[in-house]
Amino acid sequence: MRTFTVIASLAVFFAGAVQAITPAATPQFEALFVGVLEVGDAATINNTTFGSRLYGPITGGNLTDLASGQLAGTVLAGSSDTGIISQSGIFFPDAVLSVRWEVDQKLAYLRATGVGEIFVSDLSYIHLETDSETYSALNSRFLLGNLTFFEGEQTHPVLTIYGAV
Ligand SMILES: *[C@@H]1O[C@H](CO)[C@@H](O)[C@H](O)[C@H]1NC(C)=O
Ligand SMILES: *[C@@H]1O[C@H](CO)[C@@H](O)[C@H](O)[C@H]1NC(C)=O
Ligand SMILES: *[C@@H]1O[C@H](CO)[C@@H](O)[C@H](O)[C@H]1NC(C)=O
Ligand SMILES: *[C@@H]1O[C@H](CO)[C@@H](O)[C@H](O)[C@H]1NC(C)=O
Repeated sequence: MRTFTVIASLAVFFAGAVQAITPAATPQFEALFVGVLEVGDAATINNTTFGSRLYGPITGGNLTDLASGQLAGTVLAGSSDTGIISQSGIFFPDAVLSVRWEVDQKLAYLRATGVGEIFVSDLSYIHLETDSETYSALNSRFLLGNLTFFEGEQTHPVLTIYGAV
């Protein structure tokens, strides 16, 4: 009897769900920050399990707040991208950035994982953690980052960070 009730209620649930299925709204984003990163001498650990593992040290950089046009934060040395250049050539960035906010000198941890082409451009989801009161709203925001290199250049890519609206 109990089993029957569960099955019956599941049937009602799925019947309702089938009728209700419509695609969720397409996410919209706004650009929040832009800045130039300083990338140090990159190296690769060649032909390992998944392809080649990048060691791309990030030695500095600035993030400008696009709302105010002011310097928002500084990227700290010790940041790096240790993503994978797959056998097929597709690049899967996996970067950790530490940022010191200008307004209160507090820190932020940014972890970026995505897909793209190495030394050309990639797009990542960014997980951010900060205890800065000014920026703590970003902790629960879905963020994307576009990292794009100038042609033929491997040391000063432009990072644009977007937030879902
Ligand atoms: C790894 O591969 C890159 C690109 O082909 C090459 O420049 C580099 O010398 C290689 N590293 C080693 C340790 O073989
Ligand atoms: C990995 O090994 C393959 C096959 O030996 C070779 O063609 C390729 O150039 C190597 N890649 C790197 C980055 O060393
Ligand atoms: C960041 O800003 C500081 C101070 O304005 C400047 O000295 C530094 O060169 C800038 N770095 C980058 C990567 O733009
Ligand atoms: C990232 O930014 C570059 C430069 O504006 C642009 O060409 C590229 O299409 C962007 N990538 C994505 C996935 O939007």
